Amino acid sequence: MENLFQVAIDGPAAAGKSTVAKITAKTLGFVYIDTGAMYRSLTYKALKQKKDLNDARQLKKLLNQTEIKLVQEGSGQKVYVDGEDVTERIRYPDVSEHVSLVSSFEDVRTEMVNRQRKLAESCSVVMDGRDIGTHVLPDAQVKIFLIASVDERAVRRYREEELKGRHPSMESLREAIALRDKKDMEREVSPLVKADDAIALDTTSLTIDEVVEQILHFVKEKQHS
Ligand code: DC
Repeated sequence: MENLFQVAIDGPAAAGKSTVAKITAKTLGFVYIDTGAMYRSLTYKALKQKKDLNDARQLKKLLNQTEIKLVQEGSGQKVYVDGEDVTERIRYPDVSEHVSLVSSFEDVRTEMVNRQRKLAESCSVVMDGRDIGTHVLPDAQVKIFLIASVDERAVRRYREEELKGRHPSMESLREAIALRDKKDMEREVSPLVKADDAIALDTTSLTIDEVVEQILHFVKEKQHS
């Protein structure tokens, strides 16, 4: 469709993708699509129903029976699985630990990617994830690959957890982030990799506003070219 604009934001866990993507989308008046939340939603449901997380067929079947909704409510985005508000629950450690496994299966990914492309068919979007620029939206006008050091990402995660009243050790956060990076980058299907035409932004010593500023600059450049 003409005039639709796509911004793809990829990068490793806790690189600040969702915070930056949300603000960018709001500023531009685009819809924000958090693809990680979709994989987390399926992981949550599979854990709840005690499914075998190594069984790709069962997971695909479960996904076919699952409605995942990303809803813009007030200033934030809510995630609903079959009508249940799971916005907070899908960020819990049990989901974070298992989501890399659930998202590693081709059948699961194919269905998720179909759903993600559909969401981007009728409106301009900022979509974040791991394979958006390489696979989901290969024609996105702006592709960003956010990176930050593991230490910096652990600090950011700690601050998020602290706000929720949890106090995990820095070492456990660092380990969990490094492990998820490894799994996301080494999986066979659509591994986390920078698209050739993506702009790499190292956010280690940048504020959120500075990162958003840079992305908005790239969008404006494209819109006027
Ligand atoms: O962005 P996040 O941490 O909420 O993502 C959760 C997991 O989902 C992440 O470990 C990898 C997976 N994921 C993916 O494989 N592809 C995407 N497009 C988004 C997330």
